[in-house]
Amino acid sequence: MISPALERFISQAAVRSREQAEPADCVLALAPLMLDLIEQAGTFLEPQHYRSDPQSYARNLVYDAADESLSLYSIVWLPGQWTPVHDHGSWGVVGVIEGVLEERSYVRLSPDRGADTDIDLARGGTVLLRHGAVTSFVPNPDHIHVTGVPLERPRAVSLHLYGRMMSDFNIYDVGARTRRRINVAHNES
Ligand SMILES: [Fe+2]
Repeated sequence: MISPALERFISQAAVRSREQAEPADCVLALAPLMLDLIEQAGTFLEPQHYRSDPQSYARNLVYDAADESLSLYSIVWLPGQWTPVHDHGSWGVVGVIEGVLEERSYVRLSPDRGADTDIDLARGGTVLLRHGAVTSFVPNPDHIHVTGVPLERPRAVSLHLYGRMMSDFNIYDVGARTRRRINVAHNES
């Protein structure tokens, strides 16, 4: 069953994302909704949204729009679990429910002409996001980063809203200067 807080979030997010054609305007309009949603997480997150996997961070689907224009996941990060270096092909808004989510950014130095080779990335800054924090990103040029939790910190849980079904993204091999598209799994609700 969908809680009133989640229902309100989804309906407002759908309206605001439709109204804002520009991704940067879209995340500006959606970030405050995520800030409020974090405080309501206890009303709609159920045990299946806290599923974890000792092999990898776990992506638990909370909501997906019938037209695939929005998707919301609860991601559970056990100590020592990290994403590969990746981008998103979409705008995204992230809110932290529990623990500290760490983000290590990369800056693309070579122009993106759509090729999967000759990609120069430089390491950028790190942000540490505690419960209540909201961050966001836009595509084109795409935001490239690694997120996760170092071994010495406890589990983190975060909510991720995207402007599409996030079932695939590019991962980067920084040393080889390449990227490739991979499918990413999730647990259904
Ligand atoms: Fe990401």
